[in-house]
Amino acid sequence: MEERKTQARASYDVSIVRPQMRNEDFKIRGRDMEPARLKAINKGLLTLHTLELMAMTIYKFQLTRQKSELNRQLIAAMCNEMTHYQDFQVKLYEFGLRPRLTRWAFWLVGFAFGFGSRLLGQRVLLKTSVWVESKAVHHYAELLRTIDWDEETRRVIEKDQADEDGHINKWKKLLDAQAN
Ligand SMILES: [Fe+2]
Ligand SMILES: [Fe+2]
Repeated sequence: MEERKTQARASYDVSIVRPQMRNEDFKIRGRDMEPARLKAINKGLLTLHTLELMAMTIYKFQLTRQKSELNRQLIAAMCNEMTHYQDFQVKLYEFGLRPRLTRWAFWLVGFAFGFGSRLLGQRVLLKTSVWVESKAVHHYAELLRTIDWDEETRRVIEKDQADEDGHINKWKKLLDAQAN
């Protein structure tokens, strides 16, 4: 399983910020699933959905009005996180599940991280994002390892995890560029 995951991750194109979705890509899922499997999927999707709300809020509040390369990259990252949020919202409804009503709490956390790090300057901002994204990549790995996803949902999660990896690389590059 570990090997398959690595192979799969290597094949995702993280330069695609918002993958295309056709009408036939939407499906009613989980019809013949065991309750225990569905329960695990429910928990996993709720976690991912709320995490992505936090992520898109962080980038939204790190943005300033300055016409800079950092802001251009932050806009792309925000759009990418909005896509992830949408991915998991769609999956929740496809499985007949519903988002968490208390997810606004993650908006607050995202706001605190985003706005707080923006006030502390660009280096802290970038380091905060690297830290948050690294946590996300681990979280994703755990959910991929412990939950028996259907193949299509697994691929969405793997692509989104690869995107988080891409974000880490992007912020690290900007940090390196600043150091020189
Ligand atoms: Fe994300
Ligand atoms: Fe991310």
